[in-house]
Amino acid sequence: MRHIKANRYDDFSLTAAELIMNQLKKKPNSTLGLATGSTPKGMYEQLIKRLIDLSKAVTFNLDEYVGIASDHPQSYRSFMEDNLFQHIRVGQTLIPDGEAANLTLECERYEQLIKQHGGIDLQVLGLGHNGHIGFNEPGTPFSSRTHVVDLAETTRKANARFFNSLDEVPKKAITMGIETIMEAEQIILLVYGEDKQEAVSRMLQGEVDEQFPASILHEHSNVTLLSGGVKVLN
Ligand code: F6R
Repeated sequence: MRHIKANRYDDFSLTAAELIMNQLKKKPNSTLGLATGSTPKGMYEQLIKRLIDLSKAVTFNLDEYVGIASDHPQSYRSFMEDNLFQHIRVGQTLIPDGEAANLTLECERYEQLIKQHGGIDLQVLGLGHNGHIGFNEPGTPFSSRTHVVDLAETTRKANARFFNSLDEVPKKAITMGIETIMEAEQIILLVYGEDKQEAVSRMLQGEVDEQFPASILHEHSNVTLLSGGVKVLN
């Protein structure tokens, strides 16, 4: 695993954006796996500021809540519209449909779509405090494909800051599975902020354990961990 360290959030975000720009230079019609959350916001801002051409790219988001409409302000579709898609033209933007009548079929459809597009060239991930990637919480089998999850209470609490109250935070989501993520050609794991200190330290210990989902990334041959605002030893 390659490890790049940044200090300030703007350097961190620019470095992340550059990794995406390099990929697009190599392959303008890349298939990009994208994440929501606080961490990649600055990266999206940099892509917008630099007028990056995503018109030939296809994006697949990692996850979406179940039980809120796609135009709900806290849906991940809305997040992506607000933070990227409204500002830059993207070839195609795909996000699991958390309103689908049959969620199991929706998960299968999403897997099919990824396959039809030849798989993901570059996947961006954030890191949950409990080591989750996408919404794959501790204990999720490493062999999981896109599936419906019950969100951990800790994750709901962490995300409650975006809702009026904890009660409003959805209890379920659709997420790409761990095996789906691991099939991406290249992965960037973005970790920023002191509150991620413990998670990033555990990540760097290198032990691969289903109780810390991100640890599987040690078994992928092309992962870049980009950390910032945390003290790291190696
Ligand atoms: C978001 C996602 C999550 C976040 C993680 C970190 O699409 O899949 O795994 O990446 O919860 O979130 P932030 O960046 O808000 O700390």
